[in-house]
Amino acid sequence: MISVGILGVGGYLPEKNLTNFDLEKIVETSNEWIIERTGIENRRIAAPEQATSDLALLAGIEALKDANVNPDELDLIIVATASPDHAFPSTACIVQNALGATKAAAFDLSAGCSGFVYGYAVASQMIQSGLYKKALVIGSETLSRIMNWEDRNTCVLFGDGAGAAVIGQVEDGYGVLGIDLGSDGSGAQSLVQPAGGSRRQASHETIDERGHFIHMDGTEVFKFAVKIMGETSKKVLQKAGWTLDDIDLLVPHQANIRIIHSAAKRLHMPMDKVWVNVEKYGNISAGCIPLALAEAQAAGKLKKGDNVLMVGFGAGLTWASIAMKWSK
Ligand code: UT7
Repeated sequence: MISVGILGVGGYLPEKNLTNFDLEKIVETSNEWIIERTGIENRRIAAPEQATSDLALLAGIEALKDANVNPDELDLIIVATASPDHAFPSTACIVQNALGATKAAAFDLSAGCSGFVYGYAVASQMIQSGLYKKALVIGSETLSRIMNWEDRNTCVLFGDGAGAAVIGQVEDGYGVLGIDLGSDGSGAQSLVQPAGGSRRQASHETIDERGHFIHMDGTEVFKFAVKIMGETSKKVLQKAGWTLDDIDLLVPHQANIRIIHSAAKRLHMPMDKVWVNVEKYGNISAGCIPLALAEAQAAGKLKKGDNVLMVGFGAGLTWASIAMKWSK
């Protein structure tokens, strides 16, 4: 079997900052509360004319440049998102057209904040099977568009941005070494956009009750996250044949610094081996992990042969982790 991994990474962040001090003027909150409970200081907000596909495109272009791959070499584009341009067509098709990726199949993937890791797993298996040679997997979000700016429980947590990776064949023994994906739909209502789908169609009523925004039971998601990050990491380590000491860099989903600290503690990882950027961008859902990879690479924190563990969790509820040997 061929080895499959990441050929290039890239990210895009909108220019506009929204600080905790800005939020103090919008809802009853404080910079101290947000930092103490989440670690977040700032987040980016897309410009009014920017949709999720625009952010995805810019991140995708960066990843293609980094991989030295042309859009017309792509066989597949997957966009993982919870805030697509439209319910249909897929955001991936809009990106496919904008890139001129003429031979690429394209679809969106819905797995909440685990979406990028799910997408990487799907693309890697399609390449390993021989069906495709090169894929672009993007995690992109404009969560500011589905945020209830009157709900302090959620509006302080999320931000906009995108990250992307080009996936293809790598040197033998490098790339993906273990995958663990999972779901527990009994927690579906813990993190949900209640209206606008077939369960509750859009109406004046759903708008009045703020049904098109993110609704979250923060405590439930928090408990789930802390538990599942340790469990899925251990499973994927076993699949890769690694021990905890073998991990060079942990790239966790960036939802809350307390969740990250707790996962690091469970995995006995010192924080200098954990990539953290939640303070700068908040939670960008599916965008977090690929953006973190792009940042870590740019900072010289990823060198060829490094063992990287990516761990995500999110709406669904879902979780996803991949152990990979960095091949660039
Ligand atoms: O990517 C996956 C998506 N989501 C997550 O990963 C989120 C997971 N959950 C969390 O990160 C945390 O549960 C939160 C950050 C959402 C909340 O932190 P917490 O320590 O669990 O706080 P809490 O929900 O227990 O709330 C404590 C208090 C409440 O007041 P009362 O009821 O005790 O009087 C809240 O109303 O803090 C209040 N509160 C706030 N106060 C100031 C909630 N949000 C805010 C706020 N500013 N922004």
